[in-house]
Amino acid sequence: MKFSAEKLDEIEPSGIRELFAKAQGIENVISLGIGAPDITTPIGLKEALKQAVDDDYNNYDQSIGNLELREAIAEKYKEYYGIEYDSSEGVIVTTGGVELIYVALQTYLKPGEEVLHQDPCFLTYPRQVVLAGGKMVWMPSTPDFKIDIEKTKEKITDKTRIMILNFPSNPTGAVMTRQELKALVDMAEDHNLLILSDEVYEHIIFNGNKHVHVGSIDNAYERTITVNTFSKTYAIPGWRMGFGVTTPEILKPILKYHTYVVANSTTPTQVALANYMQRKESEDFIKYIRNEFQKRRDVIVEGFNSIEGISCQKPVGSFYCYPDISQTKYPNCEEFSEKAFKDARVVLVPGLEFGPSQTPYIRASFGSAGVEQIQEVIERLNKIL
Ligand SMILES: Cc1ncc(COP(=O)(O)O)c(C=O)c1O
Repeated sequence: MKFSAEKLDEIEPSGIRELFAKAQGIENVISLGIGAPDITTPIGLKEALKQAVDDDYNNYDQSIGNLELREAIAEKYKEYYGIEYDSSEGVIVTTGGVELIYVALQTYLKPGEEVLHQDPCFLTYPRQVVLAGGKMVWMPSTPDFKIDIEKTKEKITDKTRIMILNFPSNPTGAVMTRQELKALVDMAEDHNLLILSDEVYEHIIFNGNKHVHVGSIDNAYERTITVNTFSKTYAIPGWRMGFGVTTPEILKPILKYHTYVVANSTTPTQVALANYMQRKESEDFIKYIRNEFQKRRDVIVEGFNSIEGISCQKPVGSFYCYPDISQTKYPNCEEFSEKAFKDARVVLVPGLEFGPSQTPYIRASFGSAGVEQIQEVIERLNKIL
């Protein structure tokens, strides 16, 4: 008997997950592949989770999310960005940021409609656009990995519905200024586009730079869904806890969809996070990871730039850097990545995973390896190059 899953034929399997699986169990591999912090989950948060389970928060909770957690999230937005989200109808807790991206696209996209996302971008976006029956449209980048606004304007058609933004960016670590983002918001307004702003790296931003929350830009609030997560901020990617903020009007249909997909995100984890977020130690933890990643960034960027043929821009945020390898012996990113894995036991993600024009780049995650491992990677790469 043959069962058809042909609607997935167009979807490529995740190359990063495949690399991740390939590296498992092989000795002496250093992975700069997967985008997950190697930092231990804060002890206070682990204890809060144990406590929540012991206190019997093991039942269903509201689909929109635990009330205390939604209030804590709204409070943070007020504190960081001076913007008030309605904790009763404008904040949702989801199963990772990925679930919110999925549900938002499924909710707001009709078959054949178009979604703008950057080339390069987090690989989940284009694949989820296809899952939602939409058409992916790549927004070109400037040489410093910002969105090229003028070229993007040429891509807009009467079918364009959604624009996805992601700053600090995965895979490049670039950010755009408030003024540059405002131009994109204005463009969205002119064409009545919904903005999906993925800000999961909001706290991982270096040298005192302040994150620009797109929803806080003049006229953006009424058309923006912000995607966020606890995965990176508190080093708990395995807990699968994400969240979003937007207007009650935009959230209502998303909530309807979310309810039929997951009912509610796990209850004890939400209770633990609500408790932890209200403690000062959660802010201290954020400062700690920011400093740690900044140290790693400085080492890895200097290291890459010391290798002949590689040139690497300094990421302003996130925990990725995105070196140009086009002047090395292996100028094709897939060949480079394979060579690095086979001969240096280093996992690096080929740029083509992030967009069709990304052949000269590879992505290195310094979230998943400490300074010593990064130094070892540079040494090993130097040898094979
Ligand atoms: C840009 C971006 N958005 C969203 C996510 C999703 O995170 P999660 O589903 O763990 O919350 C990631 C994870 O790597 C990411 O890099």
